Amino acid sequence: MTDKLDLLDEKASGGVSRRGFLQAVGIGSSAGVMLGAMGAIGLAPTAAAQGHGPGGLAHKQDWRWSPPSRADFSAKGKKNDKRVVVIGAGPAGLCSAYELQKAGYKVTVLEARHRPGGRTLTMRPGDKETDLDGVTQVAQWDDGVYMNCGAGRVAQWMVTMEYYRELGVPYQVMTNASAEAYLYNEKRGSTPGNPTKYRTAKADFYGTVGELLTYAADQGALDAKLTEEDKVNLKSFLSALGSLKDGKYWDAPTHADRGYSQYPSAWNVEGVELPPTRPDMSQTLASRFGNYFEFENSWEQAMLMFQPIGGMDTTYQYFVRAIGEHNVFFNSPVTGVENTSDGVKVTYQDKHGRSYQLAADFAVVASPAHIARTFTNNWGADIDTGLGEFAKGAAVGKIGLQYASRWWETDHHIYGGITETDMDLQHIWYPSYGYGERKGLIIGYYNTGTAASTYGALSPKEREARAVEQGVKIHGEKYRTELEHSFSIAWHKVPHIQGAWAYPNLASPYFQKLQEGAGNVYFAGDWMSEISAWQHGAFWAARYAVQSLHEKAVATA
Ligand code: PHE
Repeated sequence: MTDKLDLLDEKASGGVSRRGFLQAVGIGSSAGVMLGAMGAIGLAPTAAAQGHGPGGLAHKQDWRWSPPSRADFSAKGKKNDKRVVVIGAGPAGLCSAYELQKAGYKVTVLEARHRPGGRTLTMRPGDKETDLDGVTQVAQWDDGVYMNCGAGRVAQWMVTMEYYRELGVPYQVMTNASAEAYLYNEKRGSTPGNPTKYRTAKADFYGTVGELLTYAADQGALDAKLTEEDKVNLKSFLSALGSLKDGKYWDAPTHADRGYSQYPSAWNVEGVELPPTRPDMSQTLASRFGNYFEFENSWEQAMLMFQPIGGMDTTYQYFVRAIGEHNVFFNSPVTGVENTSDGVKVTYQDKHGRSYQLAADFAVVASPAHIARTFTNNWGADIDTGLGEFAKGAAVGKIGLQYASRWWETDHHIYGGITETDMDLQHIWYPSYGYGERKGLIIGYYNTGTAASTYGALSPKEREARAVEQGVKIHGEKYRTELEHSFSIAWHKVPHIQGAWAYPNLASPYFQKLQEGAGNVYFAGDWMSEISAWQHGAFWAARYAVQSLHEKAVATA
C-alpha cells in the first residue's frame, strides 16, 4: 500500500491523487475494471446513463443521502418498531446509531473499548491506555493540555462539519500549514540537515521554477504550446509566483519573501534575511523541499482545517449524549454476529468475560474490517473475502510531548502547522490551541509504515528518547530541556483497533458485496468509504449503510 504520508516518496505507485489511483488500477487491468474504478471515483457515466440495471458500483453514483424517516413507515400504516445493534462506538458506529434513532429505530451500541471515538482518541490529563503488549501509559498532562492520538484535522468541505453544527460541538481552526514551520532533510541536498523555514523553501522553489520557465519561454522552447499572448500571461504569473525581477530570481539583490533571521524594525534596521547564505539553483533543487508543498494544497489537506475544542473525540461524547448513554455499552467486545430466521443475533462479552446475546432486527458492523473478520458469523465466503481484502490495519504512531514553555512560539514564531522531515519521526505538529498559556504539547512524531513499526517496537521511554534526539536537530536543545512528559501511541498495538487505517479496493466485486451487506447485517467504517482514514469517510459509509438498512426495513415492514 502506498504510504500516503511519506511525502518524499516519488509517488511512483500514485497513492495520493485520483489520477495516481487510476494509473495504478489501469496498469495490467481490463477496461472493465478501469471503468468500474472510474465509476467508483466519479469519473465514469452513471449506471442509469449506461443503461445498467440497479446494483453495482456505478449505480451507487446516483446515491444521495436521504436520511431515514419514521414517515416512511407511517406511509405504509406501520410503526417503526425495529431494533438495531451497532458494533463499534467510533465515528461510523455512532453516526449510524444516531441517524437510525432519529428515524425511530431502537439502537444499542456495543463498544469493545472503555470509551467512545475509536481512532479519534484524545488523551486528557489522567487518561490511561494499555497496549497489546500489556504496557500501560498515563497521560500526566497539566490541566487543559491534551493530545489527539489519532484523527487531528477536518477540512471545510467535510460532512464532519455538518455534525458539529447539528450536535453543537464547539470547534476552532486547526492550523495545518505554517510559513514558519520547518522542512528538514538530512538525507538529501548539498547542505543536508539544514532546517529551512517553509517560506524560505517556497521563495527559492517558486523563484527557481519562475526563472527557468521564463527562460524557456524567452528561448522559444514553449512555442509549440503557447501563443505570444499566452507567453506574456505565463510570464506575468511566473513573475508574481517567484517574485522575479526582470524574469530573474537568483540575481536579485534581496529576497524578502525568504523571511528574516532578524525582522526589519525601525531607524534603518533593515533586518537580516534568512538564511544568511543563499543556496544556488542546484542546491535548491537538490534539497527536494519542493516535494513537500503539494500536501498543503491537496484536496484533503488544504486550509482552513478545523478541530473540536478540547480534543477530537469530544464529538463522540456529544454523539453518545444524543443517542443516550444507556444505549451505549462500553467494555463489551462482540464475538459473534449472525443472521437468524427473523433478524440477527449478536454475541458480546462483559468485562468479566461472561457472554451475552442480543436479538435484533438488524446489525451494523462498524468495527475495523480485520476485527469483524474474527467474529463468529454466517455471512458467507464473499463477505469474508471482502473483509479480507483490507490489509490488517496500518502501523501508525504518534507521540505527545508536553513542554514547560511554548518555546516554538517565542523562539521560532511557530503557532501551529507542521514540520516535515526525512527522519523516521516524519512529521512534527505544533499545537493549534492553548495560545497564551504557559505550557503546551507538540506531536513529536506522526509516522507511518516502517518508521511507525520501528517506533512501535520501542518502550515509551525509548520512543521519547528517539523522538527528542531527532527533534533537537531541528529545534535545538530546548526540545530536550523543556520536556516534561510524553505519551505515545502505536495504533497497531491498541486493543480492539489494531491498526490505523485500511483502504478498500474500489474496483473489487467483493467490496460491492460488502456494500450490499449480508442478510440483515450491514457494514460501515471509513474503510467502507471512498475516503478512508477520515471521519468524513466513516460518516458517509454510515449514512449509506443506514440508508440501505432503512430501505430494507421499510420494504419488509
Ligand atoms: N486523515 C489522516 C491525516 O490527515 C490520514 C491521511 C493523511 C489521509 C494524508 C490522506 C492524506 O493525517
